[in-house]
Amino acid sequence: MSDWVKTGWRDRPRVQMPDWPDAGALAAAEAQLAKYPPLVFAGEARRLKAQLGQAARGEAFLLQGGDCAESFEQFSADTIRDTFKVLLQMAVVLTYAAKVPVVKVGRMAGQFAKPRSSPVEVVDGVELPAYRGDIVNDLAFTEAARAPDPTRMLQAYTQAAATLNLLRAFSTGGYADVHQVHQWTLGFTESEKAARYRAMAARISDTLDFIKAAGVTGDQAHTLESVEFYTSHEALLLEYEEALCRQDSTSGKWLAGSGHMIWIGDRTRQPDGAHVEFARGVMNPIGLKCGPSMEVDDLKRLIATLNPGNEAGRLTLIARFGAGKAGEHLPKLIRAVEEEGADVLWVCDPMHGNTVKSESGYKTRPFDAVLREVREFFAVHAAEGTIPGGVHFEMTGQDVTECTGGVRAVTEADLHSRYHTACDPRLNASQALELAFLVSEELAQRRDPAQRQAV
Ligand code: PEP
Ligand code: CO
Repeated sequence: MSDWVKTGWRDRPRVQMPDWPDAGALAAAEAQLAKYPPLVFAGEARRLKAQLGQAARGEAFLLQGGDCAESFEQFSADTIRDTFKVLLQMAVVLTYAAKVPVVKVGRMAGQFAKPRSSPVEVVDGVELPAYRGDIVNDLAFTEAARAPDPTRMLQAYTQAAATLNLLRAFSTGGYADVHQVHQWTLGFTESEKAARYRAMAARISDTLDFIKAAGVTGDQAHTLESVEFYTSHEALLLEYEEALCRQDSTSGKWLAGSGHMIWIGDRTRQPDGAHVEFARGVMNPIGLKCGPSMEVDDLKRLIATLNPGNEAGRLTLIARFGAGKAGEHLPKLIRAVEEEGADVLWVCDPMHGNTVKSESGYKTRPFDAVLREVREFFAVHAAEGTIPGGVHFEMTGQDVTECTGGVRAVTEADLHSRYHTACDPRLNASQALELAFLVSEELAQRRDPAQRQAV
């Protein structure tokens, strides 16, 4: 892209970024980061883009999920392993129902910076800067903790590199074997309340037994023992993104080296703003969150800016309206996309439009509202004759109590017991897997309406 430079965003209006108190310290951290190796490689971003292009055509399905905000404090091998494990379990269930490959993308290894509804937080009359994610400042409510500290970008990089290293090892080192992944799922369906999902799990077992008996060998066996797993995050902190931006030696194109896929948040998608300017010039797949305030004209402009060549898999539109609202907002945006002849992948994020404050003061999300929004998303696409190509969840492999509902029902009174998120409430392992079963019912019905009951 000849009219683009990686520093171009600096001349555009920016929102949701910190005012760094020490310009010298910022410049030193940026210089250090710029010397570090990129975390991902251009060939991987191209491969993911091709797979997202397939999802846009209904030949694959995107599963994207992970923390709202990765945390320095909760960083551990077990946390990474457990989230990875649940994502794989969900992927097996979804693959079975969709009968197409599931593209697996973690909100992991870079999901550190957060947009906030207010730049300040007031507690008992004391006003301090808002927490903006561990890559910027600390959650503790003190003046020192809340001061933006650019050396945190180096710590975020180190954590992202270690996370990605472990994910790469898990993906190919035997941990991801589909038989093993399915064994874990069988454990979940043994619980009395999960009986509804047992029949489908048994059918998956049968299919796997058949494949084994039929003697899949060579490259095909390898396919069942390993997975391709990609990373993604919101490209919010542009100093970090710019410092990790690299030019691909084979194509000359620029790559955001911070993760395979990056997305633009619902609060930072101003067509002339800094975040859109940065994203338009990198060759990675780009996500764009579309909330209730997205207007048709803005969407058309954003599509033209972010994907001028109408490249398949380049642009993923992530709808996040809230349960009960997709019918009002989604059809007009889908029609705008169709009018433009734009090649986009439509994905549903049923989390960010469904956050409510519980009576006890915790931010939560009712499981039923999350499910309802997914169903509405599928229904609108069915009515418009377009393709619902994936789902995007905030979830963790830990047994947290942050969202209410699910078969092992978390109630409002339970929220306090294991509420660990640094930002928005996540589905726990059981809720996430249950949702995969329920989304599978939708997918099976889309393939064959008569099959609904048979799932
Ligand atoms: C997020 O994905 O964590 C987020 C802040 O989403 P949105 O931009 O859709 O509000
Ligand atoms: Co969030």
